[in-house]
Amino acid sequence: MNIENLLEKTLTKPQYEAIKILGGQFHKKGTRAFLVGGTIRDLLLEREVSDIDIIVEADPWNLIHKFDPKYPLDMISNSQFNTCKIKILDQAVDLAMARKEIYPASGALPVVTSASIEDDLGRRDFSINALAACINPPNWGEVLDLYRGLEDLQLKHVRILHAGSFKDDPTRIFRCIRYSGRLGFSVEGDTKTQLLNDSTYLAQLSGVRITNELAKVFSEKNANSIFDLMDQFKVLGHIHSGFPKEPEFSERKSLLENIRIPTPEFVFYVLISLIEPNQRLDLIKRLDLGNKLSKFGTDLNRIERLEVNSSRSEIFKQLTEVSEIAISVAESYAPRELRSSLELFVNELKTISLCIGGEDLMAIGIPQGPKIGDILSKILTYMIDSGPQPKSGQIRMAKKFFSDF
Ligand code: CTP
Repeated sequence: MNIENLLEKTLTKPQYEAIKILGGQFHKKGTRAFLVGGTIRDLLLEREVSDIDIIVEADPWNLIHKFDPKYPLDMISNSQFNTCKIKILDQAVDLAMARKEIYPASGALPVVTSASIEDDLGRRDFSINALAACINPPNWGEVLDLYRGLEDLQLKHVRILHAGSFKDDPTRIFRCIRYSGRLGFSVEGDTKTQLLNDSTYLAQLSGVRITNELAKVFSEKNANSIFDLMDQFKVLGHIHSGFPKEPEFSERKSLLENIRIPTPEFVFYVLISLIEPNQRLDLIKRLDLGNKLSKFGTDLNRIERLEVNSSRSEIFKQLTEVSEIAISVAESYAPRELRSSLELFVNELKTISLCIGGEDLMAIGIPQGPKIGDILSKILTYMIDSGPQPKSGQIRMAKKFFSDF
């Protein structure tokens, strides 16, 4: 198969020109170069191509330094794994040396050696990502399809290349579900069986690797349905046993859809809120989510522990240190009584404050020391339970509380 027409039709003009130049230059240096991975998959699906990934059967970094100087290139970055990012015609391109990968243990990073394009395609996750199209001028647009990727694109399913794929790299479990959700593809039968079997290997992944994959899932346009798929494939239970099972999980999740919190951590707020309260801090530790999210988990537990019929001052005391984000997440799923307490706190109690301070108390003869703080807090509690007081009333109360000591 040759996709030269598709290249011209689907790529933007700068993308097309950039690839033409690179193909020509690599060819002159005597090496084969190919569009690969998501670039070729999306091209074949006639989806917009956002990233350009090119594989070269040599170290690309060495070769680009020898390119014809009439093509100005910006070297953006170069990594130890013989991959680099460049800009040509204002177009970012990822270049990588064709490689073989050996996984020393499940979930560990692979040991990499240089290889042919054929080997490189064989190390990949799914057949739809294991396609390549040559960009050398004599073979421009020729597709290399060693793993029936074209057929799988037609069949609209995601299929692994070999039975050990998920074991080698359990992040592929997330990737499989992500592509299935994004492209509306099914998961091919044997791949599905293997995925369900191998989900136990998710336990081998570090918290950071899981977090990265979850962040990718949630940056997808249809993140919610991908989340549902993760639940159906029982992936969440392998991340942590504290995730509630169906139907509670779906109910809670659908309630959470109504809140919109514009922060990159949003997905993790949702995940934490979905887990059993006594397991939240454990999940946060497992995923290495850091202090801000630990505080969020603790805050949520605190909110959920708030008793029905708590006094106004009790509500104030429990919630005063709690973050706004924890309150807004909890508001989205809390039962009616708890939601009223949260609304009372946000709309009224939180706005009540003293208009006197330690100086005012010392001015009426109360000696400096811990009593000052105690008296101020008693006045505030009184106002929260019984309504605001003017400055004169607050001073009067201070005198009374002092004489009661
Ligand atoms: N890949 C893999 N196994 C992984 C990660 C990546 O085999 N665990 C391969 C796939 O062939 C993939 C390519 O590396 O196509 C590039 O990976 P990535 O940039 O993550 O994915 P894309 O295919 O570009 O897809 P996306 O549109 O999600 O960026």
